[in-house]
Amino acid sequence: MNLFAQKSDKLTRASEVEIPDKIKHRISTSIPALDDAFGGGLVRGSVTLFGGEPGVGKSTLLIQLLDAMSNHGSKCVYDSAEEAMEQLKMMYQRVNATGDFLLGPFSEVGELATAVEEYKADLLVVDSIQGFHVKEVDARVGSPTQLKESCNNLIRFAKDHTIALIVICQYTKEGGFRGPKDLEHNVDIVGNLTTGKDPDKYRVLMFSKNRFGPTQRAKHIPWLSKEGRYDLDPKAIIETVEQARVPLIQAPKAGGRIHMGQETAPAMDHVQLIAHELRAYREPTNALFLSIVSSIRAKYGPFRIGETDHAVFGMTRDKFKTILAFLAHDHAFTCQSQDPVIIGVV
Ligand SMILES: Nc1ncnc2c1ncn2[C@@H]1O[C@H](COP(=O)(O)OP(=O)(O)OP(=O)(O)O)[C@@H](O)[C@H]1O
Ligand SMILES: [Mg+2]
Repeated sequence: MNLFAQKSDKLTRASEVEIPDKIKHRISTSIPALDDAFGGGLVRGSVTLFGGEPGVGKSTLLIQLLDAMSNHGSKCVYDSAEEAMEQLKMMYQRVNATGDFLLGPFSEVGELATAVEEYKADLLVVDSIQGFHVKEVDARVGSPTQLKESCNNLIRFAKDHTIALIVICQYTKEGGFRGPKDLEHNVDIVGNLTTGKDPDKYRVLMFSKNRFGPTQRAKHIPWLSKEGRYDLDPKAIIETVEQARVPLIQAPKAGGRIHMGQETAPAMDHVQLIAHELRAYREPTNALFLSIVSSIRAKYGPFRIGETDHAVFGMTRDKFKTILAFLAHDHAFTCQSQDPVIIGVV
């Protein structure tokens, strides 16, 4: 069903046009800087053209995005016409992904659309549009005609099924999108990923066009170091938390679970956290340990927000409440007053 095209055959008062809930409620990417860049999460049925220099990290970032979204219940597909599934799996491992999303081998738009429709995906990423073709179109793969037809068919498909679509597009050597200018006109959002001033720590994402949010705001996305870890790795988080005299967490075992440390109050020592989920998404000014929260949820099931009589360490109670409200709204996470919650902000 095309929620964006419930066409009327008459002039309609703007005040009477209803926006369906499915569109109103954006999908959170679980990565605050990305949610912010999109204007508060991804809009279903929106189409994003996503570019950047070769090797800047487009595929890596989008694999992370799918990982985060699938870990929060969205159905996601990454279809690469450029890389083999085994290569994508290496990228998946490199970013310590755990999400249950699908990888696609298709390069023909119709075949891809059929598979994605069957799966009822919320989000589809195609990498890159230059590798796709429409079999009914008599032009070679990579030609301007195929590029335009592939993109337009995918856009129509995404709109018809209210799927969020991200189209990776190669750059020319001059630095613009490779393809007709129509590509940028026909999509809702145009994003550009660059290395910025601190490539070891961040990639910088900037939207030049956004029909659903702001533009021209540089968003810093935490990046993997050469050793394949985030700048703010679990060990650094633990040290920070220790220094802040917040209840301690033991050093994580690779991929395993970690437990609250010795100094934890007895009422809390049944809490377990998943080591890989200690990755923090860091904004230039602070960091939220969103993944810690999701792992608590995974162990104890859904929580509900209650009257908070939590012990709060390292931040004001108001800030703590704001973060809980944010998590409840954007991540369907709620908690009762007796449930231990640890959120670190540095
Ligand atoms: N095993 C690894 N160790 C260190 N760095 C790596 C490793 N694998 C990939 N990288 C780095 O990750 C960066 C991002 O690669 P990625 O494939 O995501 O970029 P991309 O923008 O999708 O590139 P392309 O335009 O070629 O598709 C690259 O600069 C690469 O050097
Ligand atoms: Mg790539």
